[in-house]
Amino acid sequence: MKKIQLMKSAMYGFVCLTISCNMQPQSEIDTRVNDLLSQMTLEEKVGQMTQITLDAVGNGKDVFTSNVPFAIDTNRLKKALVDYHVGSIINTTNNYALPPAQWNSIIGQIQQTATQQTRLKVPVIYGIDAIHGSTYAEGAILFPQEITVAASFNPVHAYNMAKTSAYETRACGISWNFSPVLDLGSDPRFSRQFEGFGEDPYVVTVMGEQVVKGYEGMTDSINHPAKLASCLKHFLGYSVPYSGKDRTPAFISENVLREYHLPPFKAAVDAGVESVMINSGLINGVSVHASYDIITKLLKQELKFDGVVVTDWMDIINLQKRDKIAPTNKEAIKLAVNAGIDMSMVPYDYENFSKDLVALVKSGEVKESRIDDAVRRILKLKFKLGLFENPLTKLTDYPDFGSKAHAQLAYDAAADAITLLKNSGDILPLSKTSKVLVVGPNANSMRSLNGGWSYSWQGDKVDRFAGLNNTILEAIRLEIGEKNVRYIPGVSYVENGKYFEEKENNLTGAVAAARNVDAVILCVGENSYAEKPGDLNDLNLSELQTNLAKALAKTGKPVILVLNEGRPRCINSIEPQMKAVVQTYLPGNYGGDALTDILFGDVNPSGRLPYTYPAYPNSIVNYYHKLSEEQKPSEGAYKYESDYNPQYEFGFGLSYTTFIYSNLKISSDVITDNNPIEVSVDITNSGSRSGKEVVMLYTSDLYASITPDVKRLRRFEKIALKPGETKTVKFNIASTDIAYVGLDGKWITEPGEFEISTGNLKSKISYK
Ligand code: BGC
Repeated sequence: MKKIQLMKSAMYGFVCLTISCNMQPQSEIDTRVNDLLSQMTLEEKVGQMTQITLDAVGNGKDVFTSNVPFAIDTNRLKKALVDYHVGSIINTTNNYALPPAQWNSIIGQIQQTATQQTRLKVPVIYGIDAIHGSTYAEGAILFPQEITVAASFNPVHAYNMAKTSAYETRACGISWNFSPVLDLGSDPRFSRQFEGFGEDPYVVTVMGEQVVKGYEGMTDSINHPAKLASCLKHFLGYSVPYSGKDRTPAFISENVLREYHLPPFKAAVDAGVESVMINSGLINGVSVHASYDIITKLLKQELKFDGVVVTDWMDIINLQKRDKIAPTNKEAIKLAVNAGIDMSMVPYDYENFSKDLVALVKSGEVKESRIDDAVRRILKLKFKLGLFENPLTKLTDYPDFGSKAHAQLAYDAAADAITLLKNSGDILPLSKTSKVLVVGPNANSMRSLNGGWSYSWQGDKVDRFAGLNNTILEAIRLEIGEKNVRYIPGVSYVENGKYFEEKENNLTGAVAAARNVDAVILCVGENSYAEKPGDLNDLNLSELQTNLAKALAKTGKPVILVLNEGRPRCINSIEPQMKAVVQTYLPGNYGGDALTDILFGDVNPSGRLPYTYPAYPNSIVNYYHKLSEEQKPSEGAYKYESDYNPQYEFGFGLSYTTFIYSNLKISSDVITDNNPIEVSVDITNSGSRSGKEVVMLYTSDLYASITPDVKRLRRFEKIALKPGETKTVKFNIASTDIAYVGLDGKWITEPGEFEISTGNLKSKISYK
């Protein structure tokens, strides 16, 4: 039996580490930084600004291709660290997850070389994409991806995920995490939609703050051995390329950039985040990596960000090779460093980066004061992390690595997030004596449950590493017994050289088997991908999977459609024929268990959609859209409604119980700058099962100088209610909560009327 026995209810506990840390006063760090900087040669400073990939110092035929399993090439390491003073290394694209002990030994070799063989003994800062748990560590607990965590509408899961990930990543000896993604998930076509917290700026803000706290600690204590430095990404406006495809140009006006994209980053910077990664793309034709306005003026000056700004992968080179704004790589380096870049994820050709940047400083094209500013930020981070005192952690200090307690937190997050989107005739929960057919390409795959950035960049090695976890099929078999479960894939994902393709796999057998069961559990969606390889030409669910669903529905047996996908693939042609629809997103290693507990009634679903689920690929509209004209021919006249006719709305999700909203009260119907108002509402569980409700508070500006959004989410809270129980939920709303950004790029609250709504209740206030 594979199943780890987890509690089937959310426990919201935290696991504590007993190792202590000593906080170093800021002034002491500043003195140490200045002292060290004053001893550095220009070449040593430039080395600190250089980040290379692990491949470049590994055994292998060249610096691009390290051997598997990975081993350090001591000559290459010495050349990079001692001869070129390289200050940072990151995880490799070529390799995949390693056991924590091996990570420890690799980081140990790196730190030994840095702190014993270099002149000034400056430790290396190692960075990794541990974005939903310590994703490159064998045996680590993999949580649901950010999009799933957002669907829980319960920020504690964002905190738990980050806290666990920090602990397990530090156990490996790694102290810098390229997470969280705070990009706005407002375009479902984008291949990285699953890496973010969905389409709503407020949800992204709330979740992002919790992640930063989970990684860095509630106070400034990243030298705690269970904390690490986080890295917000990708500043700014990365997630909305015009074509929907990764790293293609975006067009974003300044007011939109500031109102929708900036707030999550600003809140995390205010919370003290240590580093920020820059958007690889172009905004309005400007490469963000060369934008002084965005990096220096907005991020460093306006937001007062005093941490490290790192490029994304090869993005200085891209200024020359892709964006064509610099005729040489040297010119590209000049543009980026002068724009405010502190560290370049080079990641291979560090020799030329060093040579060119040194020459630029010598010729005065880059001021040495700019270099000093960058290096100061980097050294400060290394001191704050305690790397000079403890360049390496000891694995034995981390007894909770991969523990059951951590697994429970990952399960809780998935169970709280999985979203019931349709439940005709209350077909769910299914009885545990049902005979079911489990079918579809996602039914027996740990890879699809986890998605990209899981054990490897593309997530293609998941099934090798997550063998002890349950696929959906395995979890269902454990729940209701093997004899009650038939499994025929119908369609499968088949490896195809570098990536994969879909192939029919006994579709007729699946349809025949469907006739002999009580219900069909059809698991469809996407296989794992990350970044460019995840680009899509058609948002519809694939033709093979759609045909499979249609054929199964034709049998007349109830089909439960389980969605397991990084972004919402359109299902409008099959949805009416499905009895139930359950969205699992990318629920991680315990997602199969959590889904099964929901399907068979051990857990009452309480997730809500963190994005609008579009009905058609050409109808991509966020919930916070503007009104538009819509002429219904049958009704003759124009109606000012909107083109918002999604498959399922943002915030939607069903429960096995029902909730009634009543007694909406506002403390005053006038809001002023000095007088926030309190909104309260009673929620009653009117059904016969315990359940959780996400109470959401929206406001609508009725008239404004710039066409207002139909509504905006301002607050939310998830509450648990027993049958018959009523709770009062209170929210405070300030005048700044109902502001918007004008064409001058400034926030403004305009006098006038605003509607407040929650559930089916509405009220009006005015701002004076
Ligand atoms: C991605 C980043 C990531 C970096 C390092 C890039 O391709 O865009 O999100 O942190 O690689 O792995």
